[in-house]
Amino acid sequence: MHKIYEKENVTLFQGNCVEVLNKGTPESIDMIFADPPYMLSNGGITCQSGKVVSVNKGKWDKSKGINEDFEFHTGWINACRRVLKPNGTIWISGTYHSIYACGFALQKAGFKILNDICWFKPNASPNMSCRYFTASHETILWAKKDNKEKHTFNYELMKNCDWKDDFIKKPQKQMRSVWAIGTLKQNEKEFGKHPTQKPLELLRRIILASTNIGDLILDPFTGSSTTGIMAIELGRKFIGIDLEKEYLDLSIKRFEQVLSKKEKEWQ
Ligand SMILES: C[S@@+](CC[C@H](N)C(=O)[O-])C[C@H]1O[C@@H](n2cnc3c(N)ncnc32)[C@H](O)[C@@H]1O
Repeated sequence: MHKIYEKENVTLFQGNCVEVLNKGTPESIDMIFADPPYMLSNGGITCQSGKVVSVNKGKWDKSKGINEDFEFHTGWINACRRVLKPNGTIWISGTYHSIYACGFALQKAGFKILNDICWFKPNASPNMSCRYFTASHETILWAKKDNKEKHTFNYELMKNCDWKDDFIKKPQKQMRSVWAIGTLKQNEKEFGKHPTQKPLELLRRIILASTNIGDLILDPFTGSSTTGIMAIELGRKFIGIDLEKEYLDLSIKRFEQVLSKKEKEWQ
């Protein structure tokens, strides 16, 4: 493992997140967003932009069977718990392939689940087999480290902010646990695309909900660093970890752009 990038409020490590996290400072992180492998690269097919493509994302996304997958999730969730502040929270995204294992591992590790968000994708790809329903959502668990501590939830902001692209959110009404957010926009692929890149808008909502300006956010499976890009846009600090140099190189291109945009705003 090694530090591959450090600039202003951004630090990126290349390596296995458990090894990196075990060397990190205990109780130093305000919030974690984790988008772990969903273990769905099973050789199937799907449809993307009207074309039939393989569902395979990479070697890192292959299931090793339910027991080994559960051990993997337990390992990184425990490593995250050690670095999280007592009042810190963790968000974990997944589909049915992974999210039940993550939820069970979270509870076994002592976390208290606060919400399971349904991220509804109005523009999800159609189902090619026509033998079951079109998968059009992901689940995002939100959990706190210690039930006795007061966690950050920016309730008023969630209720009153302008979420104009989300047809489920009604103005001045409480934010519900179902969020309608479209998949990646074209301009988010400017430097290339990670096979499972999250939309910036999803991370905007998560970061605004559960952190304050100056907070330190960690993503142990950073990929193209969508979490980090939004963290910097919103005035937070960021640490990202990934195994693959290719994805970290894509992250660095995105950080260089957002940091230079920020610098111009301050001049
Ligand atoms: C689902 S993707 C994350 C995508 C990211 N949210 C984005 O918006 O680009 C999961 C990432 O975890 C990385 N990964 C898999 N196993 C890992 C491990 N043990 N430690 C660190 N990174 C890992 C993969 O290389 C992949 O980039």
